[in-house]
Amino acid sequence: MCGIIGILGGKAVAPLLIDGLRRLEYRGYDSAGIATLSNGAIDRRRSEGKLANLADLVDRDPIEGTIGIGHTRWATHGRPSEANAHPHANERVAVVHNGIIENFQELRRELEAQGHVFETETDSEVIVHLISEQLNQQKTPQDAVAAALKRLEGAFALAILFAGRHDLMIGARRGSPLAVGFGSGEMYLGSDALALAPLTDRICYLEEGDWVVLDHGDAQVFDETDQPVAREVKQTALSGAMIGKGQYRHFMQKEIYEQPAVIGDTLHSLINPMSRTVELPDVPLDLGKVSRFTCCACGTAHYATAVAKYWFEQIARQPVEIDIASEFRYREAPMPEGGVGLFVSQSGETIDTLSALRYAKQQGQTILSIVNVPESAIARESDGVLPTLAGPEIGVASTKAFTTQLAVLACLAIAVGRARGTIDGEQEARLSQSLIEVPARVTEVLQSDAAIKAIAADLIYTRDVLYLGRGLLFPIALEGALKLKELSYIHAEGYAAGEMKHGPIALIDEDVPVIVCAPSGPLFEKTAGNVQEVRARGGAVILISDRAGIERIGEYARHCIEMPAIDPFVAPILYSIPVQLLAYHTAAQKGTDVDQPRNLAKSVTVE
Ligand code: G6P
Repeated sequence: MCGIIGILGGKAVAPLLIDGLRRLEYRGYDSAGIATLSNGAIDRRRSEGKLANLADLVDRDPIEGTIGIGHTRWATHGRPSEANAHPHANERVAVVHNGIIENFQELRRELEAQGHVFETETDSEVIVHLISEQLNQQKTPQDAVAAALKRLEGAFALAILFAGRHDLMIGARRGSPLAVGFGSGEMYLGSDALALAPLTDRICYLEEGDWVVLDHGDAQVFDETDQPVAREVKQTALSGAMIGKGQYRHFMQKEIYEQPAVIGDTLHSLINPMSRTVELPDVPLDLGKVSRFTCCACGTAHYATAVAKYWFEQIARQPVEIDIASEFRYREAPMPEGGVGLFVSQSGETIDTLSALRYAKQQGQTILSIVNVPESAIARESDGVLPTLAGPEIGVASTKAFTTQLAVLACLAIAVGRARGTIDGEQEARLSQSLIEVPARVTEVLQSDAAIKAIAADLIYTRDVLYLGRGLLFPIALEGALKLKELSYIHAEGYAAGEMKHGPIALIDEDVPVIVCAPSGPLFEKTAGNVQEVRARGGAVILISDRAGIERIGEYARHCIEMPAIDPFVAPILYSIPVQLLAYHTAAQKGTDVDQPRNLAKSVTVE
């Protein structure tokens, strides 16, 4: 989603702004722009499409100044175009905005009636005119912003520049995150700490309703009632060096290959390898006495909770409900006494997940979250946080965040089982041991990369692909289909194998590949039956299974991907890898934009 950077500095600011926007590219965008003060006057460059277009424009038509704001826009109100790209500005004020102003039509009518002339179709432009209207009434910039903020309904993060004021930048947040960075004699604003990583490691996160006035040396934060407040300045561990592609062609490929390391890091933070027991930090409740876990998330993170439901039920006999956060937040679901709301999110900023969390809190639930960004809003609003140690994930399609979420959820299921007395020490040791071995098994699976690439070459001309799985592998079928469609734009559907006869079987012919995730285990024979049914209708099966499974039904498959033999408990983590690689190689060979697929955003901070 949209990204913001603001720099109040001492050197030429345009290249620094474009660099900052580059670090925000991973969030997804379709236009970009910057504004600076050049001899006190607001100057802008904006362009549709990729940042390279903006960089070219600035090369052809340089822009001066030492203070500036920049933005990557993911279109909501108004199509992606240069005119609708931020910053929005008139001769007095320039603004970049993330989020949605819900009452913009009403405000626009009112401002037009006062003589303001609008240039764009966006909701954001009203902010420029609201502030200018206050400045026209001789208010100071601070007072003008304070008054304008009170008129805005909806969600926003803002960075604001004022003509003639080289020493002043104002930021504000409600709903969308905004971080303030402290440099030496320079100050920064960023929609996340990654944007500011190479500039400073001293960051302060604004809280809900806060706004901030920056000058060259300091930041004064005010709360929503305009009272000055102190917000903690933290040292962040992010560094600019962490976000290169290294030897890989795409960030997604790099992130797939990082999985043995980051799953290992995450498991090491939760499992004592000597005693083979799970030791969870920061869980402020008795896990044996939870009436129900209600898990909410979006996209790939939702599929992690779908796997967790099987684990919690099978290992801990723990009642669990899962829901997509955007549905749950409006369902008015009654929540039980003694219940836990469990929220899973890579970014920790997904607006629907955050809103579902707030609803669960109002309903008296204890809030646990599994997040990859420890400073995020979801983490900050939780009673307990179980971090995934995946490091920054830049590819829009989630990979290492997903498998580390699974690693944390598996540990949590074991801890709940132990607390509820459904597993004994021996079973806990067996399950922990199978998790401890996952990073090594993932490394083995990655050795099939070239073979999977060759199979993907067969997928690039297909129109539809089906994914089938049962039990713990059903969510992996869903995740495989999501990955393929979002990256390669090939229509794909994931199905519980047992549901195939209830509809999808009608689609099967020789042009529809069926990818079957079927490790040996209790449900294998059932899925083997489905493979026969696909073959009988001429469908081409791509079988992902272990040696025993391939020996049993491999002859009916067009391709087989051989997986290590593993405890069925950890199969969802392992079987995520081949479906990621299939989607990656299909997209890379088709030539789509793997790291930033069209229309998608990394972090969905608007509804
Ligand atoms: C977007 C991303 C997905 C991600 C989902 C949830 O759709 O493209 O990769 O799974 O948001 O994001 P979160 O940050 O909450 O995990």
